[in-house]
Amino acid sequence: MNAALTIPPLPAAAATPVGAEVRRGLTARPRRLSPWLFYDQRGSELFEAITELPEYYLTRTEREIFAQHADEILAAAAGAGLAILELGAGSAAKTGLLLEAAVRRHDEVAYYPIDISASVLEKASSRIAAQLPQVAVRPIVSDYTRSLRELPASGLRRLVLYIGSSIGNFDPQAAAALLRSLRRRLAPGDWLLLGVDHVKDRTTLLRAYNDAAGVTAEFNRNVLARINAELGANFRPRLFRHRALWNDRECRMEMHLESLVAQEIRIPALDLAVRFRRGESVHTENSYKFTPDAVSALLTRGGFAPRRHWTDARGWFGVYLSEAV
Ligand code: AVJ
Repeated sequence: MNAALTIPPLPAAAATPVGAEVRRGLTARPRRLSPWLFYDQRGSELFEAITELPEYYLTRTEREIFAQHADEILAAAAGAGLAILELGAGSAAKTGLLLEAAVRRHDEVAYYPIDISASVLEKASSRIAAQLPQVAVRPIVSDYTRSLRELPASGLRRLVLYIGSSIGNFDPQAAAALLRSLRRRLAPGDWLLLGVDHVKDRTTLLRAYNDAAGVTAEFNRNVLARINAELGANFRPRLFRHRALWNDRECRMEMHLESLVAQEIRIPALDLAVRFRRGESVHTENSYKFTPDAVSALLTRGGFAPRRHWTDARGWFGVYLSEAV
């Protein structure tokens, strides 16, 4: 008899990326959930709301840098005609400033926003196509962290945008690996524009991830609601407390969800039960912060040559242009 036949089939959800990640993370010690799980429909909306919070300086500071320096940035990324690719484009709210500068300099500009969410991408693409008819917009639905396929070239020099401090979610090893895999798909002379959050006083950092209106807490707990919706779990998000802390040794902000009571959570689609002690937490996000030297070192490890960078008046955020070599 074939022993395999006696094993009941796995529920289909266990084989999806969400199912696999939730199983991996919630059975690990300490428990963890990967930050990409935040971004379902509701999570993406909550993140957009975060970017407008008074405490969350990142988005508006980077936008300020683009507003001030877009022409200089595009002048530094030399080349005749330009294909601009954006990893994790999302709503592409700040990208317009760079595209406008690109159109001022180049006869031919193509824009390839890459994002995992087709709906978000569709919205951003039609907005940009309407606002900047000179730009050829070619959206690509893809998870760039999993499969960075051949990046389109169309014979143009490429400028890859990886902005918004998105790279901050990866630990230094994974960040360097991601840059190397990007580098392999580029040609010498192509460009990378990386936007990163700088190390700063911890009060400012803590406030940015612990806003008074509680939107970040809602964003953090939304991952539990997503697991309920997609895997039939019975999390009661209110029984988990949002915690944001500064980890000085690792140079990163961390978000956790701390169980307020002893409880058992059932996840039927994974055929899994997870017991939480009171005070036990799930680590849901790292958000690394950088010094200019650390960014240079990371870019070099990734196979890029740092060329120039721009910052805001307070030096809170940095935009780094480097060349594939
Ligand atoms: C989208 C990863 C840049 O780390 O600041 C916002 C996500 N987390 N508030 C960040 C986030 C909590 C954000 N990134």
